[in-house]
Amino acid sequence: MEKQALKDRVAIITGASGGLGEGMAKAMAGEGAITVLFSRNLERLEARVKEIKGRGQKAVAMVVDVTAADQVNRAAREVLKQFGKVDILVNNAAIAPSRLFTEMSDEVRDATIKVNLNGVWNCIRAVLPGMIKQKYGKIINVSSVTGPKVSGKGMTAYAASKGAVSGLTKTLALEVAQYGINVNAICPGSFDTPMLRSVAGPRGWDSEEEFVRELGEGVPLGRLGTTDEIGDLAVFLVSAASKYITGAEIVIDGGNVIQEHKS
Ligand SMILES: NC(=O)c1ccc[n+]([C@@H]2O[C@H](COP(=O)([O-])OP(=O)(O)OC[C@H]3O[C@@H](n4cnc5c(N)ncnc54)[C@H](O)[C@@H]3O)[C@@H](O)[C@H]2O)c1
Repeated sequence: MEKQALKDRVAIITGASGGLGEGMAKAMAGEGAITVLFSRNLERLEARVKEIKGRGQKAVAMVVDVTAADQVNRAAREVLKQFGKVDILVNNAAIAPSRLFTEMSDEVRDATIKVNLNGVWNCIRAVLPGMIKQKYGKIINVSSVTGPKVSGKGMTAYAASKGAVSGLTKTLALEVAQYGINVNAICPGSFDTPMLRSVAGPRGWDSEEEFVRELGEGVPLGRLGTTDEIGDLAVFLVSAASKYITGAEIVIDGGNVIQEHKS
């Protein structure tokens, strides 16, 4: 049997009941990690855990709203109790409401910042002391190309939140490098997930299918990304193969943001 890159590493993945979080959790479990799936919906989480365990791999579900610091802290303590450590944190949970700035309420703006920035903050704060103590840790913040690299109409709050995640990633990487902790951001382009499909309507598309197809055709590699592909990148970023990478923002988008013109 091939050596597993993450054997017995304990990995928390937030927003892991579907989409990219599910992909990263499955990829890490496949490399031998004990995966702890955080999200708000127990039923969906348990379905994911069942799938992972069905392959003889390790997973547990914990119902956690990342915006509630008390829930995050309680869950982190539970992980320490059950497994003795946290080696990996993947901050993936986010929301992406699409509204023009002139129609964006303070409530929608604040809700976006609360999940996408404060949620990341809460999770890091809960696990960082343990990582510092053990002088080992890998943190991935799932950012976006939207905000740090490019943007689109309707995305002011989302882009602002992801830009903030980039700043947080770089600064934290500097502060914790001395403890052997790597902090990196993944900037996905377009992946076919419920979040991506949710922007079809606000962008004027009647059909989600057509929106997804046309979006894929405009990407240089000719299609949207898959959850397996984000999983592969996440495994790389938390494995020994990337130990000299920290504070980086890795774009995974099939070459989309580098295009001057779409042909
Ligand atoms: N899909 C894309 O094309 C794309 C592009 C760029 C960036 N991203 C980023 O990738 C990440 C995953 O996105 P996705 O497309 O899989 O989205 P998704 O909506 O399919 O999944 C997001 C997950 O986060 C969970 N979540 C939301 N609020 C939460 C909260 N308060 N507490 C706990 N969990 C919560 C949701 O329940 C869901 O499981 C996000 O950070 C997103 O910004 C996605």
